[in-house]
Amino acid sequence: MELRGKTALVTGGAKRIGRCIALALGAEGMRVAVHHRSSPEEAAATAREIGDALPFQADLTDAADIERLVGEVTSSLGDLRVLINSASIFEPSPWPLTDEAWERNVAIHMTAPMRLIRAAAPGLQRERGVVVNIIDAVWSRPSWPRHTAYCVSKAGLAALTQSLARALAPEIRVVGVAPGAVLPPDDYSGSQRDAAVRRVPLVRWGTPDDVAQAVVALARSDYITGQILAVDGGQSIC
Ligand SMILES: NC(=O)c1ccc[n+]([C@@H]2O[C@H](COP(=O)([O-])OP(=O)(O)OC[C@H]3O[C@@H](n4cnc5c(N)ncnc54)[C@H](OP(=O)(O)O)[C@@H]3O)[C@@H](O)[C@H]2O)c1
Repeated sequence: MELRGKTALVTGGAKRIGRCIALALGAEGMRVAVHHRSSPEEAAATAREIGDALPFQADLTDAADIERLVGEVTSSLGDLRVLINSASIFEPSPWPLTDEAWERNVAIHMTAPMRLIRAAAPGLQRERGVVVNIIDAVWSRPSWPRHTAYCVSKAGLAALTQSLARALAPEIRVVGVAPGAVLPPDDYSGSQRDAAVRRVPLVRWGTPDDVAQAVVALARSDYITGQILAVDGGQSIC
């Protein structure tokens, strides 16, 4: 699928992995909408680095903000050919689960991507475009007891990916990229970083660019839909 000159929206695109995905799509010649919630300077810097790009603000837990975001991006940069759902939270939710932690995770990992896809669908249909949901390799085995709400909501995003791949075919492809240990939270200690990759077959952390290159490959492909590609050093086969 041709990406050059076409429009992409990357949620959570100001920093970290989202930023790297935005830069990689920019390097393919795409016009990139760099979404952020609370990182205006980083979003503006990412857009400047890409060149043909603009920053856009929205809180994706707010339904009206999502409609506004898609409207603003479309009127500034045109219909989307590529939508990347990368915005996320990663916070502990140990048992007993609180309603608030559950709802925060479902809101950002399941409800927001569904609403974004719904709002962007008419343009994606015209463009015969693609949605790439950034999931987590843990989705297929939601086995972190201290992060139940995160694991379950990411498994829900995987299910949404597969379900919408059927519902939106043949005009729109829907795929997922499931990273493993790629970029630790800023407050991870050295021993937490070591522990995270001890049982990974490739025994090292991945890089944001490993994820971004998988996103570009799936976005480019014309004949892949409903698939979720793990970029996890082999963790999900153990
Ligand atoms: N890091 C890893 O190793 C890893 C591993 C597996 C999966 N993943 C997945 O890969 C993706 C990127 O990971 P990451 O670690 O770079 O993500 P991250 O730093 O946890 O979050 C990315 C961005 O999400 C945005 N966000 C959070 N809540 C939002 C809301 N209510 N509305 C709008 N935006 C919101 C934040 O934007 P602002 O800064 O503008 O507020 C944040 O910068 C995520 O989907 C993550 O689950 C990452």
